[in-house]
Amino acid sequence: MAGTNNIVVAEHICKSYVGVQALSDVSITIKEGEIKCLAGENGCGKSTFVKIIAGVENATSGTIRINGREMTKHSAKDAINEGIQVIFQDLSLFGAMSVAENIAMNKLVKEGKPLTNDREIKRIAKEALDLIGVDIPLDAQIQELSIANRQLIAICRALTLDAKLLFMDEPTTALTKNEVDRLLEIVLGLKARNIAIVFISHKLDEVMRIADSITVIRDGHKIGDFDAAEIDAAKLAYYMTGRQVDYQHYHRDDAAEASLLEVRNLTKKGNYEDISLNLRKGDILGLTGLLGAGRTELAFSIFGMNRPDSGEIFVEGKKVTINDPDDAIDLGIGLVPEERATQGLFLSKSVNENVAAAILKRLKGFMGNINSGKSRDLAKEAIGQFRIKVYDEDTVVSTLSGGNQQKALIARWAASKPKIFILDTPTVGIDIGSKAEIYEYIQKFAAEGMGIILISDEVEEIVANCNRVIVMFNGRKVKEYTEEEMLSPDIKEQINSLVESGKTAGKEEAS
Ligand SMILES: Nc1ncnc2c1ncn2[C@@H]1O[C@H](COP(=O)(O)OP(=O)(O)O)[C@@H](O)[C@H]1O
Ligand SMILES: [Mg+2]
Repeated sequence: MAGTNNIVVAEHICKSYVGVQALSDVSITIKEGEIKCLAGENGCGKSTFVKIIAGVENATSGTIRINGREMTKHSAKDAINEGIQVIFQDLSLFGAMSVAENIAMNKLVKEGKPLTNDREIKRIAKEALDLIGVDIPLDAQIQELSIANRQLIAICRALTLDAKLLFMDEPTTALTKNEVDRLLEIVLGLKARNIAIVFISHKLDEVMRIADSITVIRDGHKIGDFDAAEIDAAKLAYYMTGRQVDYQHYHRDDAAEASLLEVRNLTKKGNYEDISLNLRKGDILGLTGLLGAGRTELAFSIFGMNRPDSGEIFVEGKKVTINDPDDAIDLGIGLVPEERATQGLFLSKSVNENVAAAILKRLKGFMGNINSGKSRDLAKEAIGQFRIKVYDEDTVVSTLSGGNQQKALIARWAASKPKIFILDTPTVGIDIGSKAEIYEYIQKFAAEGMGIILISDEVEEIVANCNRVIVMFNGRKVKEYTEEEMLSPDIKEQINSLVESGKTAGKEEAS
């Protein structure tokens, strides 16, 4: 049971950065042994709140009491001494050190003990791992571990320091479903040991599964504190975004039948086989199926990054060979890849430079070299048009939230006005509000005559956005839904049951 003692009482917290009011008058109380979820869209101020309580940053105004004591301008060390620990998104582990060392190091430093006693290091580490009931080799190097296991190491490290309150900032972003399940179990286990957890997420299902209380933040303002038992996912979504989420369905108005992109019998051994598709102006063609169905590989082939073994590609009726992304871009093809962080954006560059990247060629063509005034104008336009939440166009992309990064990436492509735009699972891990906005952009592009291929695992997303759909399993096209079929009132159920049947078949094959 959650105790009645308050660990943290934060009142009227404001925090401003240059040009951004990250938090406005936010008051939050965290009780002993409770699981509180801080829910809100990307960029609403969740991480800022954590940093202030953890003493990493100071509030601009407001008061904080920790364990009953006034501690408003406290340091990170003060917070740690009060039993507050944070698992930051980057985990702050030492990649080249062992599991045991990473777990035990901070405790030994804090206690002023030598860092060389290998037996003591292992004893501390083993004890912490046992506490959460997982078995990870003590001698393994951090860099050999999965992200999920690294996270558990970071949790263990916090436990060695007698955490009474553990902040976890979007811990599930990079985890698979099974890993999420395991993590949520562990979080419940910590609660059973009377450790309070502040769990930060914008994924409603996770929040609903573990929270005792939920505090919703929107745009730096607290919307409210809720008892988890008295709120449902739909209400929560509404409080987070301030709007009812009801996606606009897309219908193609364009009468043009001519093909923008045609793929005939394209095959790449081990990736996909005998794929044919036809994309017209104004089409949003959905590619769905199961993970590993070959959709990403097919997209890469169209974008010149995965040479097919056989088959043909036509762009506006002309047969083409696409050897690399440059060829694809010259043909008017754009791709927002699945792994936006590693393949799509230049994270350490500014929004301006990212938007400019796709149109550099065009600007060069005009001017001989890059016209920085022109690129800045385009970036400003993109920020406005896509409601990217930044101070200005020189903001570095890695400091943006996932939803805003994705919008920056889409903006970058939109600026180059591709004719054919492929988006690979563009809304994975993105908050509801940004998701709705991305749908709006995709549909607007198509209405203006772009041809779009939307790869997605989410049937809801496919049904809202696509006027035609191809379902792939194991590299093969198993079904194509026509425009007429997409209008059928039970289309969502039809596609769902087809995809479910593919899952079952896959399992039978595997066993
Ligand atoms: N160091 C910083 N400098 C300038 N702006 C920042 C900084 N850190 C965060 N922000 C801005 O403050 C707002 C809240 O950010 P953040 O707390 O990271 O949101 P969340 O964690 O909810 O996604 C965002 O608009 C973000 O761009
Ligand atoms: Mg954050």
